[in-house]
Amino acid sequence: MEKEKQIHQTYAAAYAQSITDPEGFWGEQAKQIAWFREPEQVLSKDEKGFYRWFKGGQLNTAYLALDYHVENGRANQTALIYDSPVTDTIRKYTYTELRDLVAKFAGGLSSLGVGKGDTVVIYMPVIPEAMIAMLACARLGAIHSVVFGGFAPHELTVRIDDAQPKVVISASCGIEFDKHIPYKPLLDEALQKSRHKPNHTIILQRPYVEATMQPGRDLDYNELLQNATPADCVPVDAHDPLYILYTSGTTGKPKGIVRDNGGHAVALKYSMKAVYGVDPGDVFWAASDVGWAVGHSYLVYAPLIHGCTTVLFEGKPVRTPDAGTFWRVIQEHQVKVLFTAPTAIRAIKKEDPEGTYKTKYNLSSLKYLFLAGERCDSATYYWAKDMLKVPVIDHWWQTESGWPMVANMVGYGLIQPRPGSAGKPVCGYKVEILGEEGQALIPAQEGYVAVKLPLPPGCLPTLWQDDDRFSKSYLERFPGYYMTGDGGYIDEDGYVYIMGRIDDVINVSGHRLSTGEMEEMVSSHPAVAECAVIGISDELRGQRPIGLVVLKDGQTISESDIERELIQLIREKIGAVAYFRSALVIKRLPKTRSGKILRKIMRNIADGEHYAIPSTIDDPAILTEIHDSLRERKIGNAFL
Ligand code: COA
Ligand code: AMP
Repeated sequence: MEKEKQIHQTYAAAYAQSITDPEGFWGEQAKQIAWFREPEQVLSKDEKGFYRWFKGGQLNTAYLALDYHVENGRANQTALIYDSPVTDTIRKYTYTELRDLVAKFAGGLSSLGVGKGDTVVIYMPVIPEAMIAMLACARLGAIHSVVFGGFAPHELTVRIDDAQPKVVISASCGIEFDKHIPYKPLLDEALQKSRHKPNHTIILQRPYVEATMQPGRDLDYNELLQNATPADCVPVDAHDPLYILYTSGTTGKPKGIVRDNGGHAVALKYSMKAVYGVDPGDVFWAASDVGWAVGHSYLVYAPLIHGCTTVLFEGKPVRTPDAGTFWRVIQEHQVKVLFTAPTAIRAIKKEDPEGTYKTKYNLSSLKYLFLAGERCDSATYYWAKDMLKVPVIDHWWQTESGWPMVANMVGYGLIQPRPGSAGKPVCGYKVEILGEEGQALIPAQEGYVAVKLPLPPGCLPTLWQDDDRFSKSYLERFPGYYMTGDGGYIDEDGYVYIMGRIDDVINVSGHRLSTGEMEEMVSSHPAVAECAVIGISDELRGQRPIGLVVLKDGQTISESDIERELIQLIREKIGAVAYFRSALVIKRLPKTRSGKILRKIMRNIADGEHYAIPSTIDDPAILTEIHDSLRERKIGNAFL
């Protein structure tokens, strides 16, 4: 009890300082990284009135991630373990080896005219070359934009047009279980449709699929690497962008989240010990895709900046080859911290509910399991905890923040986790729950989860070339606050509960997708008059989207044909990851008399939850029709 109290006090003291004296707190943390030039000012505002960190500082993020360690005693330590059950490969790279590869590839990029401030799109599977490409951009001061390999050409086109890259880097294929997914035809299609044309593409030919190359435009990754002269690290300003990462918003146009170099390096370095409790030399494994924020922060940058060994896993939690694959990786590489999504644990639990595979491995190296990306249900929490016998720590963050906003900061000592809660606010984040009018709500009252400005270092300073959208999306709803887009509450003891998005964003297998975007696509079908796409609960994936469509008058297309066509449309436009598998034809959408579609009520119906019929509803009978259709099709829990 005494110990628990002490831990609370240690965390509370650090947290209080981070809020009352952010400049003192982050000024101190900034000393933990090797700047080329020290910042002149810890916190400032730019000419647009946005908060910025570490003005005047100069650094290079790839230097911090690699060269610094080579020069400071970690030259022969393993920096990266590539573990790929789908190709039966395990390859290790020391800090020196990785630094040399990155420097050479940076030289190759530089020979193509890529330099500071240029953008580069990376569309690759989870392989070392993706990481090398990211770090090579960082070395040159170029801005990378990684596009998740599961996205279809349309999504890639949108990102290429927005980021306007000089070069696109890709591979001949990705591997999903035992399926080879040729990437090059997808890239070719995206480039054919994009308005912006990059000067070159660089293609890694993997032995499983050979990409057809377009002479002049397409260059071979390995040839470029072999012929390159290593490039040095280019000093950049703390405020210069390191990368753009597009994430789903509420419309078809994704938001280009910008990450700057200075704040990012300081925040990530701090988080490794303070949030995850790891030390330099420890093995850290974020089982994520490089295309997501978790992949950027905790597969690539944070573990390397902290001098850890990072594990890059090209596989799935199950069927590559079995539900014991995660445990094998932990044992084989002596992983201290595993970070994954609850979906991955649910997938393992589904295939191996008794945890039989786990008994085959020695998991004594594992100290913590961190979960994020979606709400962690208590069944998953308890199953993982009972089986692994280590603390299971739910924590909450977003692409926008780039690092956790709410967690159990084990670096200050483990506080008692509360199932259902993502923990307490992380140092630097003044998390509050606000009501409709922006008023502070009392403990346990559910409302909008907002963070008082300034956000700590590492969070998005703005959106790529769209300050207006940044303000409108995040800052205008509650002046003085960043609106997270999540709903939730804080209990009497300060534990934060994240209850889900309050906008048109859903999380499918931990992948963030926009139902707003899907609605735009479904509506583009010539037979559709109007539609709603909603996220319903899914036992394995957390959520999945379903469409409710109203056909135009006089349409004779059958319900099964329209459903098949819409499923195909979303698959072609967004990708199979969207997991859009059901579209129901209904007579009308439920709306208020002012025309607002009642999406939340439809979600409640599908999830078998209680709902109140608003007095402003246009036609309550339609709710019964939706309920009956869902029940008949056995979609969601409406049949309960
Ligand atoms: N590239 C191409 N296609 C991909 C893909 C990728 N990177 N990822 C998924 N897909 C495809 C799948 O092949 C599948 O295609 P299909 O409809 O032709 O079969 C479809 O997208 C749906 O995939 P998914 O929802 O992932 O289902 P699954 O049965 O293939 O796998 C899980 C289920 C739970 C094992 C898997 O979703 C998983 O590992 N989830 C954890 C994800 C995670 O860690 N997220 C954290 C992000 S921080
Ligand atoms: P992404 O930007 O892909 O990281 O997705 C961010 C969103 O995922 C958040 O806004 C939440 O809705 C959800 N999310 C992430 N982590 C958690 C968590 N631990 N609990 C509940 N929701 C989460």
